[in-house]
Amino acid sequence: MKFKDIRALATVQGPARTASERLARRCYSVEDMRKLASKRLPGSIFDYIEGGGEDEVSLRRNQSSFDDWSFLPKWGSVQDLDLSSTLLGGPVSMPLTLAPTGGTRLFHPDGETAVARAAMEAGVPYGLAHLSTTPMEHVSAATPGLRRWFNIEPIGDKVELQAILDRAAAAGYEGLLVNVDCRAIGHRERDYHNGFTAPPSIKMKTVVEGALHPRWALGFLANDAIAFPNLDAEIPDGPLSSTPDMWRTLLAGSYEPTDWDDIRDLRARWNGPIILKGVVNPNDAATAAEIGIDAIQVSNHGGRQLDHMASPLDLLPDIVDRAEGRLEIIVDGGIRRGSDVVKAIALGADACSIGRPYLYGLAAAGQAGVAHVLRMFEAETTRTMMLLGVSSIQELRLEGRGLIRHRNAPLTRTSPAPKAHKGLVEMRTP
Ligand SMILES: Cc1cc2nc3c(=O)[nH]c(=O)nc-3n(C[C@H](O)[C@H](O)[C@H](O)COP(=O)(O)O)c2cc1C
Repeated sequence: MKFKDIRALATVQGPARTASERLARRCYSVEDMRKLASKRLPGSIFDYIEGGGEDEVSLRRNQSSFDDWSFLPKWGSVQDLDLSSTLLGGPVSMPLTLAPTGGTRLFHPDGETAVARAAMEAGVPYGLAHLSTTPMEHVSAATPGLRRWFNIEPIGDKVELQAILDRAAAAGYEGLLVNVDCRAIGHRERDYHNGFTAPPSIKMKTVVEGALHPRWALGFLANDAIAFPNLDAEIPDGPLSSTPDMWRTLLAGSYEPTDWDDIRDLRARWNGPIILKGVVNPNDAATAAEIGIDAIQVSNHGGRQLDHMASPLDLLPDIVDRAEGRLEIIVDGGIRRGSDVVKAIALGADACSIGRPYLYGLAAAGQAGVAHVLRMFEAETTRTMMLLGVSSIQELRLEGRGLIRHRNAPLTRTSPAPKAHKGLVEMRTP
């Protein structure tokens, strides 16, 4: 074959002009994005994203459990494939949300604002962390069309609690994501080895690593110092260094006692949706439903808190059965592919949530990186549903357990399909 014949067959690719084009040619999976993020970040900062509690058993199980579930595709027509659905009374372009992650400006100077903008453009909700490094009001101002949720601990001090709730409501946060898995901070030993404590502070080792990652270091040094401006009840004028009592107590290793009465109290104080984040026990799912909680996020905090927990995916069927459609169910932990999203919905979840995948995108390329991760999830979910033989999220929910099988399940067993999605039956206005 001559050179001119080869030229006739192949087109020569010009240089990529935008960050999105560069990513499209380089990152075909979340794993590709993870590798890119690991090159962009100093090792100890990357470890802060990656790490889990103690021996990281929960962390490893989160991802590996997806391999235990296999698809049983069905043949039939797939028409007008549609990923959109409703969640907590509002629309979502696909059944995915961005989970709260503290300290986000450590990974890219545009931090939470870049994540929120990408979420808004993709049409998925974003949960802003209490330990966010950008004031909640700044995120709101930058993303008027975003479905925004605010993440808090159950706070015993009711004056402090009410002030934070008032501030979140005034800033237009629709829902509350309330942690029930943070009575103590998980023992993330990677961070101790790196001299990296919670909340994050920069040590000498990181400074040295920073010199070896000049792009990250320049972004870090040229921008406002890392602060946690949502911890104060008052709207800040500038970066803050104060740490309210709740966090001082928590970080000192003791725990401020809160219980179901605090959750009932929260229900009475907040008119919008409440999502309890970190529910893994079917009994807790039932209690949450009884006291009028709108949703639970089945989660082990991405393996960062209690070690030796079951994977949220494996827990789903029991929780879905116990909840009996009385509340909506979001699941997070180890979701890295659109096929993972499809498995979780088939097992009865209403939506999935991701943490590390969007942080990889942010670290690799700011807002464009988060947007690319969301596009990959959308494309993979679409392709998986097409190959599975389902046209909509509603159909996936209804056919659910007939389309998926656990490796230990006998081949002949057929499980009942879960009940119809609550959000489609009853629309709740915040
Ligand atoms: C760097 C990092 C910081 C996090 N910070 C918070 C937080 O402030 N509040 C919270 O509820 N969960 C936090 N999480 C947990 C996430 O909300 C989510 O549960 C978890 O990341 C999901 O697992 P995945 O990372 O495998 O997707 C954090 C996770 C990471 C990776």
